[in-house]
Amino acid sequence: MATHKLLLLPGDGIGPEVMAEVKRLIDWLDAQGIAHFTTEPGLVGGSAYDASQQSITDATMAMAMAADAVIFGAVGGPKWDSVPYDARPEAGLLRLRKDMALFANLRPAVCYPALADASSLKREVVEGLDIMIVRELTGGVYFGEPKTITDLGNGQKRAIDTQVYDTYEIERIARVAFDLARKRRNKLTSMEKRNVMKSGVLWNEVVTQVHAREYKDVQLEHQLADSGGMNLVKWPKQFDVIVTDNLFGDMLSDIAAMLTGSLGMLPSASLGEIDVKTKKRRSLFEPVHGSAPDIAGTGAANPIAMIASFGMALRYSFDMGELADKLDAAIAAVLAKGLRTADIKSEGTIAVNTTEMGEAILKELQALHA
Ligand code: IPM
Ligand code: MG
Repeated sequence: MATHKLLLLPGDGIGPEVMAEVKRLIDWLDAQGIAHFTTEPGLVGGSAYDASQQSITDATMAMAMAADAVIFGAVGGPKWDSVPYDARPEAGLLRLRKDMALFANLRPAVCYPALADASSLKREVVEGLDIMIVRELTGGVYFGEPKTITDLGNGQKRAIDTQVYDTYEIERIARVAFDLARKRRNKLTSMEKRNVMKSGVLWNEVVTQVHAREYKDVQLEHQLADSGGMNLVKWPKQFDVIVTDNLFGDMLSDIAAMLTGSLGMLPSASLGEIDVKTKKRRSLFEPVHGSAPDIAGTGAANPIAMIASFGMALRYSFDMGELADKLDAAIAAVLAKGLRTADIKSEGTIAVNTTEMGEAILKELQALHA
């Protein structure tokens, strides 16, 4: 059985606490011989800045490039609000995405039956929800040049960010989304702002062409990103897979997270191109939630998004879909038994802390595996 090399980057805030729960799972899988992993720890974000004045070092980047998968916690916090822009905690994450060429970000939003009442939306709107947001992750306004603030000398400054997409970038993210749709309910919604943005015009055109050329069997629709956002909260079950650019994807996936009850529930996978020779792809797995400095160290963090992100690593990097299904089932079972961290608690449920939630999920997994 192959041994998979994992780089664990817990980061800041609640990152280390939720990562510890994934480590518990990895160690168990390894000890049981269910799968073989080696893990190395590394620093990223504010914790890396404290150690090296950089949000990620070249040495850690080299480890990320050599790993079979990177498991990432969260970065940032008020402690680093005034560090130089290029060394801010988020820069470490953006460098990982860019240098590893992780252009495809998969953000599933699934509403577990037991949590339908934790959403701020009505039960009938979210119950049974299962959608996938595919966010372009290495292009667009996040990385486009020029990206500057210029002093105009008259007491005014000018800030510029550049939204830029080439045909190939839109084609490859569209293919990832169409392929996923084929394995799901066969429907893809593409979101852009073609009514005001040239990049939206091209996005729409290229997705339409890829569909006509390669994916006629998939149902394709286009929505403007603003009304798409409205439809996400109005009737989210109209969607199956949504494909959109880097910035819209950032915003729409936070909205989708709330449909599931809490930001603490949403995992993500960031994937690179498949190497034709090795059939492998670079990958990074991270919860969509941030470092939540306000609750760091209190045991209130919900480890589910982090654990489910590891589940996505099993599914998308290591071809262990069956084990990933079991892990998802273990999470659902723990929720069905009424265990809740603070972010998803409701009347009549059992309050647990981060560790208790992690241990309960492992116990369910053990039972499913026995
Ligand atoms: C996300 C986050 C990041 C982003 C931040 C931390 C740079 O919000 O992954 O959604 O904006 O992409
Ligand atoms: Mg975000």
